[in-house]
Amino acid sequence: MSIRHGASRPAIERSSYSPPGWQVEQVEMNLVLARESTRVTTRLTVRRNPSDSGASAPLELNGSGLETESISVDGRRLSTEDYRIEGETLHLELPEDRATVETVVTIHPAENTALEGLYAAGDMLLTQCEAEGFRKITWYPDRPDVMARFRVRLEADRSEFPILLSNGNCVESGELADDRHYAVWDDPFAKPSYLFAVVAGDLAVLEDTHTTASGREVTLKVWSDPADLDRLQWAMESLKQAMRWDEQRFGLEYDLDIYHIVATHDFNMGAMENKGLNIFNSRYVLADPETATDADFEAIEAVIGHEYFHNWTGNRVTCRDWFQLTLKEGLTVFRDQEFTSDLRSRGVKRIQDAANLKARQFLEDAGPMAHPVRPERYIEINNFYTSTVYEKGAEVVRMYQTLLGREGFRKGLDLYFRRHDGQAVTCDDFLAAMADANDTNLDLFERWYRQTGTPTLRASIRREGEETVLALSQNLTEHPDNRGIGALMMPIKVGFLDADNRSLPVTLSGEDEPGPETRLLVLDQPQAEFRFRDLPEEAVPSLLRDFSAPVKLIFDWSAEELARLAGFDPDPVNRHQAMRRLSERVLDQAIADAQLPNNLDLLEQAWTAVFDDDSIDPALAAELLTLPTENELAQERDPVDVDGIHRARSELRSHLAGKLETRLLDRIDELAPQGPWSGDGRAVAERSLHNHCLEMLALAGRDSGAGRAREQFESADNMTDRMAALRALVLGGHDATAALESFEARYRDNALVMDKWFAVQAMKPHGSTVEKIAELRNHPAFRMTNPNKVRAVIGVFAVHNPVAFHRADGAGYRLVGEALHELDELNPQVAARLAGAFNRWRAYGEKRSAMMKAELEELAAKPGLSPDVEEIVTAALGVE
Ligand code: TRP
Ligand code: ZN
Repeated sequence: MSIRHGASRPAIERSSYSPPGWQVEQVEMNLVLARESTRVTTRLTVRRNPSDSGASAPLELNGSGLETESISVDGRRLSTEDYRIEGETLHLELPEDRATVETVVTIHPAENTALEGLYAAGDMLLTQCEAEGFRKITWYPDRPDVMARFRVRLEADRSEFPILLSNGNCVESGELADDRHYAVWDDPFAKPSYLFAVVAGDLAVLEDTHTTASGREVTLKVWSDPADLDRLQWAMESLKQAMRWDEQRFGLEYDLDIYHIVATHDFNMGAMENKGLNIFNSRYVLADPETATDADFEAIEAVIGHEYFHNWTGNRVTCRDWFQLTLKEGLTVFRDQEFTSDLRSRGVKRIQDAANLKARQFLEDAGPMAHPVRPERYIEINNFYTSTVYEKGAEVVRMYQTLLGREGFRKGLDLYFRRHDGQAVTCDDFLAAMADANDTNLDLFERWYRQTGTPTLRASIRREGEETVLALSQNLTEHPDNRGIGALMMPIKVGFLDADNRSLPVTLSGEDEPGPETRLLVLDQPQAEFRFRDLPEEAVPSLLRDFSAPVKLIFDWSAEELARLAGFDPDPVNRHQAMRRLSERVLDQAIADAQLPNNLDLLEQAWTAVFDDDSIDPALAAELLTLPTENELAQERDPVDVDGIHRARSELRSHLAGKLETRLLDRIDELAPQGPWSGDGRAVAERSLHNHCLEMLALAGRDSGAGRAREQFESADNMTDRMAALRALVLGGHDATAALESFEARYRDNALVMDKWFAVQAMKPHGSTVEKIAELRNHPAFRMTNPNKVRAVIGVFAVHNPVAFHRADGAGYRLVGEALHELDELNPQVAARLAGAFNRWRAYGEKRSAMMKAELEELAAKPGLSPDVEEIVTAALGVE
């Protein structure tokens, strides 16, 4: 059982930061590893921080769920009167300015279902310490502004745990009596405790090397269960690409002689950047064409990149406190986005990132847990690994680059590392480095870190004589924390198309030379006007190109103008946006009238134009031909008409598929695989459009689509095509029994592929999926203790199946509510994420709202509820 806190904890405030009273110079640990009981001896060399007040602060050590055997100071064993324990903190008065503190504790990895601290995953033992898991392993000042050098001795049974890994370099290893062995690892870089890692198990390895730009050779090792060894190649390729890219784009080299990646099937999140010893959810490591889709390959490359890039942005320069989390996460997401953009299609990547931000982060902003990219308070820090901190944080970093230019941004980053290497710093330090390196004032920019919610940008255009006047105004959302913040500094990229849909130079009044076709405007006032010359009256504005600021843009385009932008805007993001707005208008009307509008000419023409464009990148075409999801359509509505949205969207899809059936079939045949699978960019893009067309036809209920899907399911030589066919059959409501059975028989032993099998069934938009979920939960491959399974079955159901989750009788709510009661006792972190499914309970009409609220209240009343879930549920219910 995990350790319960029971009673509510108070929130921690950003403003209450104070520096640690003591620093740790050196950590020496000895872990005697075993599944049931592991004994941890830790010796800390601590030194008092000179404090301004001259006061002598006690040493504060954090511990959680530790069976403490002894605590000694400078060799003298303490009695319980010698220290005071309050909650998770042990206070120790030390007379001198230096001391050696030794603790001995026992922990129980096999019982650790929370997957935080040291836990058992299959036959392995491994750690997850971010954010505050190290305190579940030993007593320690578990805060990121305490950076220390670690030397770690691991000892274990040799046949059960032949591989023993920790951070840094292996400096010693050897045999012991009774078929036991040990290894000593030394990490030469001082680090915060959240980057500590240990792995022990019977692991197979794929090995390679990377020679850095300065000529050092680094050993690369990717580890997994021996059964998965032949699916590690892509992860290795991705790691090598990431290392080269960071050298070339940012001049950053790896700093140790060895780099490990370890894959595990039991992991709370995506992956973890532990110094020199990354630990990964196996879904972001294992791949081959037979078992992984193109999307999986791309995600692996991105996450491997992300964790690798943390070595500089997170590890070498880390966060002072957890309020600064976006300092490392926003920056590192920005870096991984750029990595993907440089390796693949920049335009398609930017479309996806912008769409994803609107779908997920804007939703968070509109909900009870809305917070700034740098939160002001939290109860459980694990609840703040959010799309706001990560993805909106990345947009904030991107805005520096947009404002300063790529070169200016690079200068800022170089100065940041020069100033802060080896330190634990703040978002303000990052801003200062950007400003100082570019000799500019960015004080106003700091407001992005403080504001809550999605800002609105309103635009209007008028003619004054020969001039075109663009009026812009901005607003923050109503939120108590937004009072007094003032205007944000917004980079806004704009362009114009002429009557023939060609790009025009954007020239400000008073300028002599024609301006660029995409012009950067900076709005740093509540409102401002920009005057342009030489623009014809009928010019169509393309605003917020490249999604240059994370705001909600309001501008009154006509449907004709949107159709022109959808067809011809050279900016891929705005082309996609225009297509979205066009179909949203149709869908809004269809939802309101409970039937499709009569005239869909403009939308049909825009879709046809995409099909008939011979030169378009097929991956871009697939993005343009995607209707907004039901969740996206629900986002702006209150009350949400779940069934009306589903019906309108299905009808529009059927209508378009009917109108365009020949084109869809042509495209499916043209793009059908020729020869064996290939992973190159063109092949991936073609598969994406091919499968998109197939899904469109099959989900529209067309027999032509179902027929093609059946053939493809049988003949596919790769998971992308096989899974697309299975999705088309299941989600299209066609008879998929045989396909599901043969898929299961084939992949029964592959956990990651079974996750796909679970997820596609959990997604089927039909009320009966509620009963299906109950059945899937009894499947032998399902385990409530495995986060990937919970996400594939219950998470997908709650988040991606509005029709079934919101079933009118409340059975969907009941199912998720009951799962949460069970999950909270096993894994609070994963439970808290799932609990967010009830966040918008107020927006679903009286009957549904009452039922959703009842689930939240029942959770809130649960004895021993974790602080993780309690924080989410309390915020959702809106009580203090
Ligand atoms: N720092 C990790 C990343 O962004 C994510 C992370 C934070 C994490 N907390 C975690 C991963 C807990 C697993 C479990 O890459
Ligand atoms: Zn990260």
